Amino acid sequence: MKPLSIKIKITFWYTGLIVFILCIILGSIVFSTDKILVLGLQRELEDEVYDAVEDIQYNNGSMLVDQINFFDDGIHISLYSKDQRQFAGQLPSGFPAAVPFHPEQVQTIQAGANSWLVYDMYTTAKGTEPLWIRGVISLNSSYETRNQILFVCVILFPFLVLLAGYGGWLITKSAFQPVTLIRRIAAEIESSGDLSKRIHLTGSKDEIYDLAQTFDYMLDQLETAFKTERQFTSDASHELRTPVSVILAHAEYSLTQKDNPVEMAESLAVIRQQAEKMNALISSLLLLARADHHAERLEFEVVNLSEIAEMVVEEIGAAAEARAITVYAEIAPSLSLFADQTSLMRLLLNLLQNAVCYGRENGWVKLSLRPVEGGVSGTVEDNGIGIAPEHKAQIWKRFYQVDPARKTMENCGTGLGLPIVKWIIERHGGEITVESQLGRGTIFRFFLPSRRADLGRG
Ligand SMILES: Nc1ncnc2c1ncn2[C@@H]1O[C@H](COP(=O)(O)OP(=O)(O)OP(=O)(O)O)[C@@H](O)[C@H]1O
Ligand SMILES: [Mg+2]
Repeated sequence: MKPLSIKIKITFWYTGLIVFILCIILGSIVFSTDKILVLGLQRELEDEVYDAVEDIQYNNGSMLVDQINFFDDGIHISLYSKDQRQFAGQLPSGFPAAVPFHPEQVQTIQAGANSWLVYDMYTTAKGTEPLWIRGVISLNSSYETRNQILFVCVILFPFLVLLAGYGGWLITKSAFQPVTLIRRIAAEIESSGDLSKRIHLTGSKDEIYDLAQTFDYMLDQLETAFKTERQFTSDASHELRTPVSVILAHAEYSLTQKDNPVEMAESLAVIRQQAEKMNALISSLLLLARADHHAERLEFEVVNLSEIAEMVVEEIGAAAEARAITVYAEIAPSLSLFADQTSLMRLLLNLLQNAVCYGRENGWVKLSLRPVEGGVSGTVEDNGIGIAPEHKAQIWKRFYQVDPARKTMENCGTGLGLPIVKWIIERHGGEITVESQLGRGTIFRFFLPSRRADLGRG
């Protein structure tokens, strides 16, 4: 059996509750109407009998009953002598003759289908004979009123239940409309794979509105992540295709040069260079992919940054020399950090490689490192081609190259160096900024904290 929807369940609960409340109200009406009506009649009856007593007048010891209203408002008044013989007034038709007298007590008398309330008073006035005054009122009319109320209730009951059920259903349906919309959008995204769809819920800012907002925000994130992923894959394939084509072309060529060892050796050198480029690219890609999945484990330990920097300066020497660039190093001695040694090497190497790649021929590059409060402050400066302001924010993006034509050397230019630098700095809890003037040079400033308690856990 298909499970009931929440809308139907809520409507059932709601209607059930209304039925329960209506039953209680109806029961109370049935049980209390009789009492209320009879109590009202009793009070009327007593008042009428008291009025009759007051209306009795005496003249020289004889009684005058002209002022008494013997039938008023459905109440019959009759007067009896001391020995209970009626001498004035009237009784309702069908009222039994021999009803015993009980002073100042209300009795209920039944005869056939009729019933009455009876109230007696025994009164004595000075110098006159005592007498009984009896008031009688029919209960039939009050029972009729009770039955009419009950009848109206029984007729109204199903209408009220239907109205409550239908109203409840409409309210629940409108309350669940946003949920239906969210489900529909989710189903559309699932079937079309179009992540650009959004719920854009309007109306009152309640819990469902928050849910829809969160859903839209999640879709934004997913869409961006998918776009980045797609872009990343296409950029990576594009970057790998060039060296692969060069390798293939040179391999083909060297196969035709079996008798020419010099040509063959030249082709092999190109193949090796392209293979090295591919190797560097693949390891950068791997590093970033692992970084994305938090799978790149860094070995945090106490390292000597001064020694690392000296090694990197030495390593960059050959490339700098090839472009007649002088490398200056102002490295404070024994700079100690709690960090990952390999990452720090990569960080400095990437920045210096950029400075050499995009530096001026016969120019200079300067690395300086000095201790500051809480860590080390560093700069990598060059007097090279610089970066235009509109590109400054973009250079941290993966595969972003200001202009691939600006490449001065074969091994610079995949657009992954600075994203890796940024990731390393962030992973060490530091900061990096760039200042540059087009045609004048660039300076990267960074700060690395000497230790952060939450680092080193992965
Ligand atoms: N010192 C600099 N001077 C001028 N432009 C720079 C400098 N450093 C980086 N850039 C610009 O920023 C872009 C991104 O640099 P990034 O290091 O990320 O990539 P890349 O050097 O092109 O390639 P890779 O570092 O992966 O070999 C470069 O293409 C370059 O145009
Ligand atoms: Mg670079």
